[in-house]
Amino acid sequence: MTDLRHHGDLDARPGLEDFAVNVRGSAPPAWLREHLAAALDRIGTYPSTEDDARARRAVAARHGRTPDEVLVLAGAAEGFALLPALAPLKAALVHPSFTEPEVALRQAGVPVHRVLLDAADGYALRPGLVPGDADLVVLGNPTNPTSVLHPAATIRALAREGRTLVVDEAFMDAVPGEPETLAGADLPGLLVLRSLTKTWALPGLRAGYALGHPDLLARLAAHRPHWPVGTLQLAAVEACASPMAVAEADAAAVSMAPHRTHLAAALAGLPGVVVHEPAAGPFLLLRVRDGERVRAGLRDRGIAVRRGDTFPGLSADHIRVAVRDPARAALLVDALRAELSIEVST
Ligand SMILES: Cc1ncc(COP(=O)(O)O)c(C=O)c1O
Repeated sequence: MTDLRHHGDLDARPGLEDFAVNVRGSAPPAWLREHLAAALDRIGTYPSTEDDARARRAVAARHGRTPDEVLVLAGAAEGFALLPALAPLKAALVHPSFTEPEVALRQAGVPVHRVLLDAADGYALRPGLVPGDADLVVLGNPTNPTSVLHPAATIRALAREGRTLVVDEAFMDAVPGEPETLAGADLPGLLVLRSLTKTWALPGLRAGYALGHPDLLARLAAHRPHWPVGTLQLAAVEACASPMAVAEADAAAVSMAPHRTHLAAALAGLPGVVVHEPAAGPFLLLRVRDGERVRAGLRDRGIAVRRGDTFPGLSADHIRVAVRDPARAALLVDALRAELSIEVST
């Protein structure tokens, strides 16, 4: 079994130009850092129910929900770790996708069925591939690492009584206008996970939230410790749900899109490079020949990319790269061009 615990942060060694981790920028914006710094004044006491209530109210308003439909998490990753609390009998995991849900479920002894989407079919979600008796279904939208955005209507077709349908929307705020989000949807068993990590450059804070029916959230949270998230996480969740922050995230998503188009075109112009498109996330999935050697060569040239072979359904010839602005993207494109020219001439 490949290393399902491998993530981009392991590829991004210090000193390398980082195309492996899909975090926007290297630090949160100044206003958010100031907000977090101000919240430091409150960490001399335990996180208060009022802090939690304010965060949940803000998130509820952002997604057209009620506060009791919001559960603040220590990152979307905590949401996956809590899934075994639902005691599923059969989990269907849609791949290729982020692997932490599979790790959490396998570790808890939950039978896992992999639903492998087909590259030749554009990694399209085909509800018929999901076993009817799966009482837990997990998928990502947009999907890491394929960058595919599934239509909300197709995902809706997977919802039914007696099944929990988890939609990992950790990257949804990188999609302008979030047309396919289910964050505000009222569907049986729906659990939407969101993350502050990527858009707000907060991987070290561990902040995200779940949206779903209050009964489902209560079952999920049944065995959490008291004070599961801290005052700073609650402060960040509240602040990043404000209309100002949502507008800022959307503007960032709008400006990222042409950078992705630019990078995709430049990479697709290199010999033997296939870029999976259409892409909706802040990253691209590539296929190259002799991927392992290419990755090593890029590393020697100072470039870190995310290996693809730890994602079920992908191979060593798959590489995921983060979208960066054209000046930084040129570093990747030039290094890859040089690496591929060696490959061709040897
Ligand atoms: C698709 C996807 N979902 C969830 C996560 C975890 O996000 P968080 O940092 O909020 O735990 C990641 C992190 O890499 C991810 O790529």
